[in-house]
Amino acid sequence: MAPQLQAEYAERRKRFLGELTDGIAIVPCAPSFIRNNDVEHEYRQDSDFYYLTGFDEPESVLVLKPGHADGEYILFVRERDPEREVWDGRRAGVDGAVTKFGAEAAYPIAEFDKRLPELLSDVRRLHYRLGQDPDFDRRVVAGVQNVRRRVRTGVVAPSEIVDSAVSLHGMRLRKSSQELSAIERAGAITRSAHLRAMQMARPGRHEFEVEAEILRVFRQSGAERPAYGSIVGSGPNATILHHRRNDRLMQEGDLVLIDAGVELDYYASDVTRTFPVSGRFSAPQRELYELVLQAQLEAIDAVKPGATMVDVHDAAVAVLTDGMVKLGLIEGPCEKAIEEGRYKPYYMHKTSHWLGMDVHDVGNYFVDKRPRPLEPGMVLTVEPGIYLAEDAEVPEAYRGIGIRIEDDIAVTADGHRNLTPNIPKSPDELEALLGARTPEGQPPPREPAPA
Ligand code: GLY
Ligand code: MN
Ligand code: MN
Repeated sequence: MAPQLQAEYAERRKRFLGELTDGIAIVPCAPSFIRNNDVEHEYRQDSDFYYLTGFDEPESVLVLKPGHADGEYILFVRERDPEREVWDGRRAGVDGAVTKFGAEAAYPIAEFDKRLPELLSDVRRLHYRLGQDPDFDRRVVAGVQNVRRRVRTGVVAPSEIVDSAVSLHGMRLRKSSQELSAIERAGAITRSAHLRAMQMARPGRHEFEVEAEILRVFRQSGAERPAYGSIVGSGPNATILHHRRNDRLMQEGDLVLIDAGVELDYYASDVTRTFPVSGRFSAPQRELYELVLQAQLEAIDAVKPGATMVDVHDAAVAVLTDGMVKLGLIEGPCEKAIEEGRYKPYYMHKTSHWLGMDVHDVGNYFVDKRPRPLEPGMVLTVEPGIYLAEDAEVPEAYRGIGIRIEDDIAVTADGHRNLTPNIPKSPDELEALLGARTPEGQPPPREPAPA
C-alpha cells in the first residue's frame, strides 16, 4: 500500500477513534457470497471496512478500542496457509496485518469469538451496525451476553449499542482531496469508455457489444470493476430505468442511453450519456434532449454550499415541467403541473444521490427532518431524464424515447466542480463527434482533446 494511503487510513481511524470516547467499534468485512456450488461471486470488500483499513481480504474484522492496552487498532484476519494460498491467492496473515496494514495488534480470525468478551469488557458503548449480517449479529450479541454474565465480578458490560454508521458515514460523506481526486480519476476512465462507446455504437450492432467495449476500457485502464451494472438501452429500452439485458440490436433512428461508470481504487463514477445511434437527432429527439440538457445544466448550477439536494431537484423539475407543458406532453400551467406532480409519469426518479466509495453512497439525506445543506467535499450526481414509453399518452412523435444525462459534481467552497468533465453532451458536439465515425474495420478517429 502506498505510504500516503496508509497515512490517510490512519488519519480516518484517528478521527473515528476520537468519536468513540469510552466505546468500542466493531466493523466486519463484507461476507463472501456463493454463486452456485463451490463457486463464489467476485469478492468486494465492505466500504466502511476498506475506508478504515485499506484491507481487501475476506474473513476479517476490525476492532477499534480507544486506550486499549494491546493496541487501539486491532485486526482479525485469515492466517497464512500455503496450501490454501495456492488456490485462493496470497494472504497478508497476522504478521502482514501489522507490518503492511499498520494494525497495532492482529489475531487469527478463528480467535475472534474467544477474544470478543475481553474486548467488550469495561466499555459503555458499542458502535456496531446491527442488521447487516444476522450471523455476525449473533456473534456480537453472544459476546455482549458473555460480559453481562460476569458483571458481578465488577466488569462493566456495554449498555448501549449505537449504529457505527452515524459517525462513519458522516465522515465518508465529506470527501478529502485525495478522495475527490480518486473519483476524478475514475471519471477520466469513464470518459474514455463513453467516448469509445460513442465511436462504436451504430445501427446493426447490439447493445451488448457496446457494453463489452465499455468493460474493456474499464479493465484495460487497470480499474477493478464497474461501479454498477452498465446500462446500454437503445430505442424504447432507454425508457426502462434499470435496463440490464443489453441484448437489443440497435437500429437506425434510435437514441441509445448509456449509464456506465467505473470503480477505481474503491471509488465510483456514475455517468450517463444519450445520443443518436446513427449520428443525427431527429427533431423530436433533439427537442427532448435539449430540454434534459437544460435541466441538467440548471440543476448543476444549483449545487453550492448551503443549497440542498431538494433545491437541485427542484431546479431540474422546473425546467423539465416547463418543457413538457410547452411540448404538449402534460397539461399546464407549469406551476400547477409542478404542484400536482404531473411530470412524474415521465420523470419518476430524483435528480441526485451521494457518490463515493459506493455508487449510491452513504450519508443522510435529511438532518432533523430537513434536507441536508450541501457542504464542500460532498459529491452528488446530477442526472435528470425524461422517459416516454412506447405506450405513453403523449404525441406519437415523442413515444419510445428515453433520455438521461448524468455527471458527478463535487461541492466546493464557492460552488461546484464537475468531476466528469469533457464527456460530450451538447447536441451539436455529439453530432459532430458521431458524424465522424468511420465504417467498421477502419481505425477510430482520435479522441477530442479535453476542453
Ligand atoms: N447508475 C445508477 C444511477 O444512476 O443511480
Ligand atoms: Mn447512473
Ligand atoms: Mn446515478
